[in-house]
Amino acid sequence: MSERNFHIQTFGCQMNANDSDWLTRSLLARGFRATSFDEANIHILNTCSIRSKAEQKVYSELGRIEHWCKANGRKDVFVCVGGCVAQQVGMGLRKRFHQVRLIFGTDGIANAPAALEQLVENPGLRLNLLDFADSYEEREDSWKQNQAPVSAFVNIMQGCNNFCTYCIVPYVRGRQKSRNMEAILSECRMLIAAGTREITLLGQNVNSYGLDGGEETGDAHPSFTQLLRAIMALPGLERLRFMTAHPKDIAPELVAAFGECEKLCPRLHLPLQSGSDSILRKMGRRYTTSHYKELVAALRKVRPDMIFSTDIIVGFPGETEEDFQATMRIMDEINFAASFSFIYSDRPKAKAILLPDKVEKLVALERLSRLQEWQNKASEQILVSQIGQKATVLLEGPGKIFQGTPEVFHGPADMFAQTDIHTYSNSDIDSNEIKAPQVECWQGKTAHGFIANVSMPVHTGRVGAMVPISIEAAARNSFTGTQAGEPW
Ligand code: 5AD
Ligand code: SF4
Repeated sequence: MSERNFHIQTFGCQMNANDSDWLTRSLLARGFRATSFDEANIHILNTCSIRSKAEQKVYSELGRIEHWCKANGRKDVFVCVGGCVAQQVGMGLRKRFHQVRLIFGTDGIANAPAALEQLVENPGLRLNLLDFADSYEEREDSWKQNQAPVSAFVNIMQGCNNFCTYCIVPYVRGRQKSRNMEAILSECRMLIAAGTREITLLGQNVNSYGLDGGEETGDAHPSFTQLLRAIMALPGLERLRFMTAHPKDIAPELVAAFGECEKLCPRLHLPLQSGSDSILRKMGRRYTTSHYKELVAALRKVRPDMIFSTDIIVGFPGETEEDFQATMRIMDEINFAASFSFIYSDRPKAKAILLPDKVEKLVALERLSRLQEWQNKASEQILVSQIGQKATVLLEGPGKIFQGTPEVFHGPADMFAQTDIHTYSNSDIDSNEIKAPQVECWQGKTAHGFIANVSMPVHTGRVGAMVPISIEAAARNSFTGTQAGEPW
């Protein structure tokens, strides 16, 4: 049999990460082997084109692979490019990079594993999977029994209909296609039966679930809140989260659900993008800052411990210092626990390309650094304000014990923030592969989504246990705490 050693690199958002996880499982189930970069004869790049920097990274990686293969005499290697850049650039990729034999778009991924099988059997073959589907394309189930992570992601839709003027997503992910509720529920059921206790629903604009045609599509889909309630009714699920929500589509029934359902985690990622109404209008966001503030107030009213995170674009065409100051003011008012901020970049087809008064790069950079500096302090303060409080941690794996003052404790927390901590399973613990004393504590997340290190011996915890803790100290991105009750 021809070599089937693959290596996947993922760029971009959580949806891409989830797609890559699915592709990995599906290829493993077909007898492919996941290997290191050097060993692979199939390189898969799952790409992002949200900003031009993300797109450039893909080209430089394609160049690097080509160069590496020449330098190492590796004629057996071929490349597959998937995701948003693949959809955007299409066959043009193959003209620039001759090693590319498969280009799969955001809807084409469902058929990528079968296409890869054909490619390894037919060395002369090249394939494209670039068509958009009319409806959400179900993918084959790739979960092996008992392999489910304690905290899992489940897709509920693909694409977006909003056409915010800066955004390339509707062009590279197509129109919104909601996934069938029964398929969502059956994936959730299967995950829960295999040990998942926390589910995060994924989509570009999750809270317009079911409204694919811009209006209610008859009986085809329930509303987003009905979907949430159906998932929360599944026995065994402890926590439900979702991202990304759009402020214009937060329905009153969704606000009410936050007040009524404890399983719905009290943290919401709600992209604001700008704190200036005139910029929001130019962005085509279809809400005002007062509407946004009303939503936050309504959610805090029904759930007083609710915290928020957001996305901000600085330097959108026409943004003045005054507009930027308005953004800083609302950030201060809402007190976001985290924000992801970006400098505006022109994207092909997105309407904002044509807007006048582009902001100078240096001005935008300076605004970005002011905003990020402010956010770092605000995030730290929010963590510090939780010291002394109780929380419940869903254990995801062994962690590292916290020693020293919060100011000097930056290493492990930052490291863990980027580590795939749910790769541990209880069998690792049982087989003693994870050894004390290096790991005399457990790590997981609170309902607020904060990483917490809980000092408890490794053999007294279990992946998937819910452990009540007292929060004792805060670092830059995480807490440490001690066990304050029986796990369940
Ligand atoms: N330039 C800069 N940031 C962008 N985003 C989306 N498009 C652009 C762009 N053209 C940001 C938005 C969005 C996040 C995922 O990326 O803040 O919420
Ligand atoms: Fe892009 Fe706006 Fe759709 Fe989000 S809602 S994906 S920013 S077009």
